[in-house]
Amino acid sequence: MDTCDVLIIGAGAAGMMCAIEAGKRGRSVRLIDHAKAPGEKIRISGGGRCNFTNSRLSPEAYLSANPRFALSALRRYTAKDFIALVDRYQIPWHEKTLGQLFCDDSARDIIEMLLTEMEAAGVELRLNCPVARIDTRGEGFVVQLASGEAIGCASLVIATGGKSIPKMGATGFGYDVARQFGLKLEETRPALVPLTFEIGLLERLKPLIGVAIQDSRIACGKTRFEEDMLFTHRGLSGPAVLQISSYWREGDEIVVDMAPGADVFAGLKSAKQTNGKQAVQTILAQYIPRRLAQHLAEEAGTMNNLADTPDAALKKAAALVNGWRVKPVGSEGYRTAEVTLGGVSTEELDQRTLEAKRVPGLYFIGEVVDVTGWLGGYNFQWAWSSGWCAGQSA
Ligand code: FDA
Repeated sequence: MDTCDVLIIGAGAAGMMCAIEAGKRGRSVRLIDHAKAPGEKIRISGGGRCNFTNSRLSPEAYLSANPRFALSALRRYTAKDFIALVDRYQIPWHEKTLGQLFCDDSARDIIEMLLTEMEAAGVELRLNCPVARIDTRGEGFVVQLASGEAIGCASLVIATGGKSIPKMGATGFGYDVARQFGLKLEETRPALVPLTFEIGLLERLKPLIGVAIQDSRIACGKTRFEEDMLFTHRGLSGPAVLQISSYWREGDEIVVDMAPGADVFAGLKSAKQTNGKQAVQTILAQYIPRRLAQHLAEEAGTMNNLADTPDAALKKAAALVNGWRVKPVGSEGYRTAEVTLGGVSTEELDQRTLEAKRVPGLYFIGEVVDVTGWLGGYNFQWAWSSGWCAGQSA
């Protein structure tokens, strides 16, 4: 039987980082994945440019049953540490917005960097390598591969990610391993995902498909985000919507301010006084895209000119711009979700090492853990940080 010190299942962001660090410590490391290429999600991330970290570490950017759990790893291996690595490889990058760092050229630069580091650390990478079963043996584990081979290891690291984008090889494998060892799981659900509307509303909103609003403010309960949004043929998408989707639950209403900072009612009233002949939608179009202005004027029943429109009706139109209330019926699900909320409960893991407290030698890192970041590089930073920490200990 093949044996090693550390066997890592899942050659994504977290698994590769863990492999590099464990290898650098002189541990013999095998990294296996059922996919035919490593880091597939890195490759498609950030529109092919990989938003590899966020320079503004912010604890509230992480959702978890224990939101403080992630901080230990995030402080041990920081965005600065990852940037230093990227700089060592002279990979050009830029800050797009809100501390979000992207490669200038291609996400493949990050994958190449990780592969080079793995090679230098002596990591053995095996692709197309599905796992059939995990057994415990003595102080360690035996992983039976579907090929019939077995690998024995002292430390076993589960880095198989979440359920999002099954088409790319995402599975519930990590959760099954947690169940096998009796570890608690937090309920999983798709996050950073477009929201969908019921058919009747979609029909009414059809003329708005493709309309984008810059810096809209979307709120769900007390949480709100100010970023771009987009009307789609299924509902709403765009960064602000993806962000709020992590907080939205079935039955919740979301409130969209399409012109944050602007008092649209005051604007309509003042236009009515200075030039009442203008159409309501003309003034609305000073705040929002023209197609949307026309739609909202129709919805509010304010298709006349300003002079002929009572203030109460203007108020109604303005309220649609400054506080459009809508109840999504669902999300696009794991098919398009960028991440999975929930996962292996943080109660089960040591926050410094990510080792299961009740199963010595077993580690869970990256997205499989109940730690989910906002959009903007926070999820990769969690993968790097948790992978790095486990790599110091496994
Ligand atoms: P990840 O999913 O990367 O890797 C898991 C690995 O395990 C995969 O290689 C998979 O094949 C393997 N695996 C799964 N089941 C297995 C099994 N049964 N046996 C063997 N191997 C198995 N984040 C961010 O910070 N910035 C960004 O720009 C983006 N952009 C983005 C775009 C899109 C389209 C998506 C879907 C996601 C993002 N993300 C993101 C999120 C980010 O990709 C995600 O948080 C990390 O990839 C998680 O890293 P992990 O290593 O935990 O899992």
